[in-house]
Amino acid sequence: MQSGHRDRTDQITFTYRLGDGVGYAEDSVHASISNVPAGEIAISDREFADFQEFVYQSAGITLSSAKKALVSGRLLKRLRHYQLSSYRDYFQMIMSGQEPAELQTALDLLTTNETYFFREPQHFDYLRTTILPARKPGDAFRIWSAACSSGEEPYTLAMVLADNLGTTPWDIVASDISSRVLASAQAGQYSMERAEKIPQAYLKSYCLKGVGSQAGTFLIDPKLRSRIRFLSVNLNASLPQVGTFDVIFLRNVMIYFNAETKRQVVDRLLSVLKPGGHFIISHSESLHGITDQLKMVRSSIYRKA
Ligand SMILES: C[S@@+](CC[C@H](N)C(=O)[O-])C[C@H]1O[C@@H](n2cnc3c(N)ncnc32)[C@H](O)[C@@H]1O
Repeated sequence: MQSGHRDRTDQITFTYRLGDGVGYAEDSVHASISNVPAGEIAISDREFADFQEFVYQSAGITLSSAKKALVSGRLLKRLRHYQLSSYRDYFQMIMSGQEPAELQTALDLLTTNETYFFREPQHFDYLRTTILPARKPGDAFRIWSAACSSGEEPYTLAMVLADNLGTTPWDIVASDISSRVLASAQAGQYSMERAEKIPQAYLKSYCLKGVGSQAGTFLIDPKLRSRIRFLSVNLNASLPQVGTFDVIFLRNVMIYFNAETKRQVVDRLLSVLKPGGHFIISHSESLHGITDQLKMVRSSIYRKA
């Protein structure tokens, strides 16, 4: 179907609804971040410890010593950018406040943002087959994607809600600590390879194929995008006023938190989960010993009493 859509930047033209023929090998838009060559400037244990402390204090993320090469690799291009000869100089620069935006840039580089559409599909099946049919009729349905990275998780949720909720009002809050990934989430434009796991019917209904200079990319339909509110939120600090939710997704972020940080983050989020609401984590994470407010209903799916 031809839609003749023009993006609000008025520079990007997307003319066709996506259809058959999409399906490429998986790729990662984040590959460039991890591929920075490391080792040209050595990072000492002391310097690494400074960055460990910085990331822990600002995001609650615990970086094990196995991440030393990763840290030096990811920050090396910033040292080059400022023509600095040591990680210590870079650390002092970001702490001095002389380049205020650089603190966020460093944090962005040190967080791991891997994500994809329909990741852990059982969660979206459970939402569609169990949670949505049991919702209270008439009430607006609200989901928070609490570490949304570049947007694939909240857009997957939006496609499922749009397809299943008919006239029921719904909205999604999507948040992350990294301004870099939030900016790409808000843009809602992805390389075509990222569409691999999106069902064909959803591609046709909710995605627009780029043409001309935008060939090889697709755009989330702005109507769907407008149902999502993107916010910068540090889960390791007090939360903004965002209302209460029927479902909270907190997937693939707690792996970076120690037990105490996990406990605090989960408690904070549970304070805005409605009674009877669902809390969904990744299959690779655990809430064992973290809270007694939740009951497991399926592996990685919990419900608040
Ligand atoms: C691996 S991604 C997970 C994306 C998505 N939830 C998924 O499962 O595919 C983890 C995200 O958590 C974010 N993050 C890390 N620490 C955070 C914090 N303290 N507050 C909010 N977001 C944080 C990172 O910036 C990153 O985008």
